[in-house]
Amino acid sequence: MAAGLAHEIRNPLNSLFINSQLIEEMIAELPDEITPQKEELLSLALANMNVTRRLNETLSGFLRFARPSAMELDQVELNRVVAETLNFLDVDLARRGIVPVVRYHPSGLPLLADEKQLKQALLNLLLNAEEALDKEDKLIRVTTGVRRGRPYVRIQDNGRGIPACERRHIFQIFFTTRRGGSGLGLPIVRRIVRQHGGSVSVRSKEGIGTTVTVTLPFESQFRAMFPGRQRLALPAGTPGPGREATAEEQSAGTQEEAK
Ligand SMILES: Nc1ncnc2c1ncn2[C@@H]1O[C@H](COP(=O)(O)OP(=O)(O)OP(=O)(O)O)[C@@H](O)[C@H]1O
Ligand SMILES: [Mg+2]
Repeated sequence: MAAGLAHEIRNPLNSLFINSQLIEEMIAELPDEITPQKEELLSLALANMNVTRRLNETLSGFLRFARPSAMELDQVELNRVVAETLNFLDVDLARRGIVPVVRYHPSGLPLLADEKQLKQALLNLLLNAEEALDKEDKLIRVTTGVRRGRPYVRIQDNGRGIPACERRHIFQIFFTTRRGGSGLGLPIVRRIVRQHGGSVSVRSKEGIGTTVTVTLPFESQFRAMFPGRQRLALPAGTPGPGREATAEEQSAGTQEEAK
């Protein structure tokens, strides 16, 4: 329903933008001597255009979030997925003088997952870590392992940390404290991880750094959680693939609250 509403808003917003553009052009063509407030009118028209453009971007972001693609499950190995995501960011990190400290679990961590989506989630977390680094000595530590019988990947940074008053908002759509941020990164991470039957937990100390841990089920655990749903394209937007969340998942969900 929200997506339908967003679409309804888009058309009038586009007319608003085009009209502001026309008004701006018409004002620009008026002779200076008969319109003493020409500059002022021009800047008002421009301001209108900027506001409508920003609203349009917000709507586009929302629509992307509201219409996630279906899950395509395959057998994947967590260490490899993490390594490939880090490779993708290598140049970017190196340019900022960051060499991530990576420690992989010594044996393979087999998952049943949508590799593209998993990489997207990891990338969002790594970008957040990178963007938070504000000290001379920049550190990103990435660790994979097994805890309480489940595989996890942990991303740690020694950046600015998250102030206590902001912690409960960081998973809300559009919540951002970054200039140019859209506030979609963490809500997308949470949705992807939930769809994989996993959970996200965040620990942060202002001025010290942040640790985000994504815990996922092993392939065998996934198959037990979602029997009969193994290599299907799954409807997106549900806590688990196509059925109610289990009690275990619901309690896992509470860990997403930042600590
Ligand atoms: N590692 C981190 N260190 C410090 N603050 C963080 C970290 N990760 C997230 N945050 C806080 O949570 C907010 C929301 O993060 P989120 O990834 O959802 O959006 P964003 O990074 O602002 O924008 P984008 O949509 O581009 O990802 C950030 O603006 C920031 O305030
Ligand atoms: Mg982000």
